[in-house]
Amino acid sequence: MSQAEDHAGTRRDFLYYATAGTGAVAVGAAVWPLVNQMNPSADVLALSSIRVDVADLEPGTQMTVKWLGKPVFIRRRTEAEIEKARAVDLDDLPNPNAENANLAAGSLATDENRSLGGREEWLVMIGVCTHLGCVPLGEAGDFGGWFCPCHGSHYDTAGRIRKGPAPRNLDIPIAEFVDDTTIKLG
Ligand code: FES
Repeated sequence: MSQAEDHAGTRRDFLYYATAGTGAVAVGAAVWPLVNQMNPSADVLALSSIRVDVADLEPGTQMTVKWLGKPVFIRRRTEAEIEKARAVDLDDLPNPNAENANLAAGSLATDENRSLGGREEWLVMIGVCTHLGCVPLGEAGDFGGWFCPCHGSHYDTAGRIRKGPAPRNLDIPIAEFVDDTTIKLG
């Protein structure tokens, strides 16, 4: 499957869950297979670095690409989303760590430290809930970011956990812009 075919917007995520039912019914299908994750096959390892063309992403939309066997959310945020994330007091964050593999360990979870390479519109995150591995829904939940329906974890517009059982902000993988419209993962 090409990257373009693999892209799935928020709307598709929503439709998937809408048809999968709610709560416990969806859990079985949505849990990311941890065994596969820990034993990447040879072809997966060969793709340890990929480039994603984001030229078609308008503000307020996102795509999901598969990388190293996991979904990666790439979102181009609106001004309102950025402002909302920047208005949050760090003391209100259950996890004050940026969880950003591109920064030094212990960096704070400011909105600046969550966006990609200082380009405030862009968020790149592993799309796996840090509780038990479901795939969260975009543009959902009490904070307008992502919502994991498996056990009710709410993430804000910077992908930071705000409410529910998930212990960590959504993880940010090694990523960078290699030109104006191309993001390299890994
Ligand atoms: S897997 Fe439990 S809240 Fe997401």
